[in-house]
Amino acid sequence: MASFTRIPDDQTPSIIVHPDHEIAKINDNIYGGFTEHMGRCIYGGIYDPGNPLSDEDGFRKDVIEAMKDLNVPVVRYPGGNFVATYHWLDGVGPKEKRPKRPELAWLGIEPNSFGTDEFMKWCKVVGTEPYLCLNFGTGTLDEALAWLEYCNSTQDTYYANLRRQNGHEEPYNVKYWALGNECWGPWQVAQQTQQDYAKQAYQWAKALKLLDPTITLILCGETGYSSWDHYVLKECVKWDVHGLSGDSTKSLIDMHSIHIYTASATHLANATAPRAAERAIQMASALIDLARIENGVPETVPKQTVCFDEWNVWDPVRAPGEKGAEESYTLSDALAVSVFLNGFVRQAKDVGMANIAQSVNVISPLMTSTEGVLKQTTWWPLLLFSKYMRGHSVAVNVRCPEYTGVTDPKWVRATIETPFLDVCAAKMEDGWVGLAVTNVSEEKDFEVRIDGVKEGKVDVYVVGGENVSVVNKKGDEKVRIEESSWDGKGLFKFAKHSFTLLRWKH
Ligand code: AHR
Repeated sequence: MASFTRIPDDQTPSIIVHPDHEIAKINDNIYGGFTEHMGRCIYGGIYDPGNPLSDEDGFRKDVIEAMKDLNVPVVRYPGGNFVATYHWLDGVGPKEKRPKRPELAWLGIEPNSFGTDEFMKWCKVVGTEPYLCLNFGTGTLDEALAWLEYCNSTQDTYYANLRRQNGHEEPYNVKYWALGNECWGPWQVAQQTQQDYAKQAYQWAKALKLLDPTITLILCGETGYSSWDHYVLKECVKWDVHGLSGDSTKSLIDMHSIHIYTASATHLANATAPRAAERAIQMASALIDLARIENGVPETVPKQTVCFDEWNVWDPVRAPGEKGAEESYTLSDALAVSVFLNGFVRQAKDVGMANIAQSVNVISPLMTSTEGVLKQTTWWPLLLFSKYMRGHSVAVNVRCPEYTGVTDPKWVRATIETPFLDVCAAKMEDGWVGLAVTNVSEEKDFEVRIDGVKEGKVDVYVVGGENVSVVNKKGDEKVRIEESSWDGKGLFKFAKHSFTLLRWKH
């Protein structure tokens, strides 16, 4: 949570942090990832058998190290649009027997040499939790139940035994399951109407929870502010009064998924566009409240959280999905990523998970080549957030001038402020306070008074660059973290077009 006070350009800006005013726990899962069978994300990204950089399972060791550095808590799989024609049984068992299939989301051929068991193993090596998305396109409920049984069951039943037969005695205990992906989208194989989707999602939820009541089910929303979101929440967020999930104090639906990609040709519109994502979280949260009110869900049923399971900067014209969506990210994009993350921390109360789309090669901060990995500009704010912005979101107020030009989307201007200094603050369990400040201005450094900072040693991490268009290239990674320290006295200068993280022990 952060509040903003707009001041004229000629006044001195200030920030007030209240480390003891905890607003909400930040769910670690906001630093989640996403790996889809798309472009070079799986094949040539996390899985590259035969490459000297890969281990005996074919997993790229440099990618694993990068994921560990990011401390990614949860990874969504296997799509994305890909999942709408994915049959999970194609991807288990002896590799030589797995069928190759035409792939209709990105128009490739799916070899199925990487599937459920490989993904589970990769998650274990990385130290992350799997999050699986169910096929709502060509998939059936039987198939979804079979996948859940394969992954989680300890009983002496067919699919649990198939897992054992495939060499995996212990269940994977997959907690997070999504009820489809972007089922509303015209590009989707077997696109659904909101009525058809809501009916199917609720019935599938019931069956899935009868099989395993411990799972967390994620409803397929749209942007968080559409009539689709409104309708499917109203139809599915109900009190599980009959105890179908085994517990009448719960709802069958635990989270609501939303997706937003932003991008704009001009820097300030680009860097402030993720304010739309923050407003979307607020609107989705309000629609969840509305559904609960209208359906009489008692307060003893925990509120459904927003699962922002695809977010990033992406211009699909610049980097088309069918061509692998390999975006080359500028410093402006890195600032946009930091504004997304600031928003997730500020709205921590409502965000149960967020997954940058995607983790490797496809619209990703991490790019592989046969020789190694490149960290794009967007990697660095993500790394700083994931390392230092956990714990609790704490109260902060920023007084500074506001960007008043064009926004993208346009409605940002009408619904939420766009301060030049975009700020959030967090206090970690060990008492370290992090103050994240994105100066989106292309022209102006801001000298800022900071109340609430502890005098002494403040660690300073800055991600900046010569201009907003700079990109990182192999052997020439211009945008990275510059580290220094500050004594916490006087004014602190936030350089133009930069992201700064200040840290001190409270
Ligand atoms: O992340 C790339 C694609 O964007 C996903 O497959 C889809 O869900 C979204 O449209």
